[in-house]
Amino acid sequence: MTLLDGLATSRQIKSEIAQSVESIVQSGGRPPHLAAVLVGDDGASLTYVTSKVKSCEEVGFRSTLIRKEASTSEAELLDLIAQLNANEELDGYIVQLPLPKHVDEKKVLLAIDPRKDVDGFHPENVGRMVLGLPCYLPATPGGIMELLRRYHVPTEGRHCVVIGRSHIVGLPMSILMQRNTSPGNCTVTITHSKTKGLDELCRQADIIVAALGRPEFLKGDMVKEGAVVIDVGITRVPDATKKSGFRLLGDVEFSSVSPKCSFITPVPGGVGPMTIVTLLQNTLQARLEK
Ligand code: GUN
Repeated sequence: MTLLDGLATSRQIKSEIAQSVESIVQSGGRPPHLAAVLVGDDGASLTYVTSKVKSCEEVGFRSTLIRKEASTSEAELLDLIAQLNANEELDGYIVQLPLPKHVDEKKVLLAIDPRKDVDGFHPENVGRMVLGLPCYLPATPGGIMELLRRYHVPTEGRHCVVIGRSHIVGLPMSILMQRNTSPGNCTVTITHSKTKGLDELCRQADIIVAALGRPEFLKGDMVKEGAVVIDVGITRVPDATKKSGFRLLGDVEFSSVSPKCSFITPVPGGVGPMTIVTLLQNTLQARLEK
């Protein structure tokens, strides 16, 4: 069993990005600049956004964290987005999801200039991804593809079962895995809460991407020998022995699944760090396309 070490891979990619930033700056250019908008004070979202901003500093990017009250109106948010779109000093930005209930998430995502949409959530970028045109790949699926590429995980002709159809992970992951690319060229089954016979489908899979957000859902008896397992889950579960009061659990029961795998991602240190570096790669790309 080989551990797909997202942390070590992300460090390597960050050093590659830092070198690109250095050469931009040495030739008189300004470093890439990413902004993140966080509405409200959800603990997990704050942790993710803080980590994204910190990673910018590590590679020499400029970063701006814009925090808004949970009560911020949709109109106010759309106004902020118009300002970010017009800001020439900003290469890309993200609006951290989920947004408060009174804000229409779709309206907000549609308002983002696709050229600054480094999360790859705007329909223009999603459409480009589907058609295999140059685009910003959504960060989590993009990071998983990069991890598979760097570890030379065989995918061609393999059966990939994706559990979860979210717009952020499951759906784009299913598209990327079936494309005529390497990695890619899988036969893909996308599954969700209404799927019948999920256990059996999983047992038939060469590659499983677990992205349903249910801690330790995938058990050893649902996985065949030699499978590749990608764990996208990061649920906080209360744990009084931790200083933070919680620990992170993936969607995969690592103890029973990992002995059967050819490759598996750990949680933490698997997909999470790869998500962040994909965002950095997208921001660098946005800067270079200016
Ligand atoms: N919420 C969970 N994942 C993501 C992500 O990749 N981007 C944004 N903007 N919000 C998220």
